[in-house]
Amino acid sequence: MVKKEKTSFVCQECGFSSPRWLGKCPSCGAWNSIVEEKEVLKTNLNTAVKKELKPVLSWETEDSNRLSTGLVNLDRTIGGGLVSGQVVLIAGEPGIGKSTLLLQVSEKFARLHGDVLYVCGEESPSQVAVRARRLGISSYKLLAFPETNLETILETIERERPALVVIDSIQTLYSSGLESSPGSVSQVRECAFKLSEVCKSLSIPLFLVGQVNKEGVVAGPKVLEHIVDTVLYFEGERFNFYRVLKVMKNRFGAGGELAFFKMSDMGLEEVADPSAFFLQERSNAPGSIVFPHTEGSKPVLLEVQALTIHALYTTPQRRTQGFDSNRLSLILAVLEKEAKVFTRDRDVFVNIVGGVRVEEPAIDLAVALAVVSSVKEKPVGDYIIFGELGLSGEVRSVHFPQERLKEGLRFGFKKAIVPKGAYVPVDGMEIVPVKHIRDAVEVIAY
Ligand SMILES: Nc1ncnc2c1ncn2[C@@H]1O[C@H](COP(=O)(O)OP(=O)(O)OP(=O)(O)O)[C@@H](O)[C@H]1O
Ligand SMILES: [Mg+2]
Repeated sequence: MVKKEKTSFVCQECGFSSPRWLGKCPSCGAWNSIVEEKEVLKTNLNTAVKKELKPVLSWETEDSNRLSTGLVNLDRTIGGGLVSGQVVLIAGEPGIGKSTLLLQVSEKFARLHGDVLYVCGEESPSQVAVRARRLGISSYKLLAFPETNLETILETIERERPALVVIDSIQTLYSSGLESSPGSVSQVRECAFKLSEVCKSLSIPLFLVGQVNKEGVVAGPKVLEHIVDTVLYFEGERFNFYRVLKVMKNRFGAGGELAFFKMSDMGLEEVADPSAFFLQERSNAPGSIVFPHTEGSKPVLLEVQALTIHALYTTPQRRTQGFDSNRLSLILAVLEKEAKVFTRDRDVFVNIVGGVRVEEPAIDLAVALAVVSSVKEKPVGDYIIFGELGLSGEVRSVHFPQERLKEGLRFGFKKAIVPKGAYVPVDGMEIVPVKHIRDAVEVIAY
């Protein structure tokens, strides 16, 4: 075993490493993010295990049995439950409910499959116990372990062989082999890598809690997302009780799936029918449109609201919640040029009700028509609307048109405006296919 000391300067945002200090990271462009990190590299050249080389089809497949987490919604989003040895990263803003969710999952998992090792690096065991009592947790198979040293945790996992390991959070762990502080890029990378290696070799599923930085991405290196099998983002508005769990990456199922929860003092409760939940307070006012959102298999009806008022100041404001504001500027430009709907002297506000962040471009047409409806002060009525907007005003087709329409029909929406290229007839529904934003504006505004 040769021990070699190495110092490198590592960007804490993206993990870029350089032999000297730099003010600005050349990889991600962040300022002042480069920190000196000492590493003790253990090079051990002779013990590498020889791996076999044979055709892919002659390798034995792993047991693809899925282990239920006990939460129906969560099982569905990750593709039917946890695969043994699956490593799942749950990221979310402070206070959003990551620990609450995992404590509830741990209890259910413990009841179904056996001991759960809950490593609480962020809180004291008594804090966790207070939360556990509040959530009504009663299983004695849920074991809290207040430890932050990686080697001790690995030893405990190997000795106890729990059915599930939860690390809350990966940023608090440190490996004695590295001199840098907990939360630094090299520590996070090393801890995540070693934990997943051990858990995979023992076929134990592993949950890692990851903190997010102010830009809303997982703090620490991007490689963290590469190491793990599944990345879940837990989102919601801080002052709102809805929470959305979104699958950003999944090696064992589809991406883009969503699960909805409601936060109360008893913890998180699954929302069985999110469409009903999000539409319950909708009124058919100007600027309100129902958009069937789906990136995974199950669509959910969301309300898109737009408000336009005459601007008080010379530069009109564009504010959004749950939607990219740059995308809004682009849509407003297309509306002006291609449909002659002018908003240059108006403040424009767009809100996706319920704290859901929509990234799929299928929402473009709904946002555009919500703005038109607000400008013209004309309610849209019971249409559901989806389609991507191109720069020359063309309405482009999107995935899952039939699923979206059927979800609309289930809630009594009998009319729809859809891209011509995504037109599918649905019994009992009047569907208006449009090719250009002008045609769509005509349907709702005149
Ligand atoms: N007594 C309580 N009654 C109702 N809700 C509570 C209570 N205590 C906490 N909560 C809810 O739980 C949330 C905090 O949950 P939790 O600690 O699981 O979040 P977290 O994502 O793990 O946060 P952190 O990043 O700090 O670890 C609070 O924002 C609040 O909504
Ligand atoms: Mg927490």
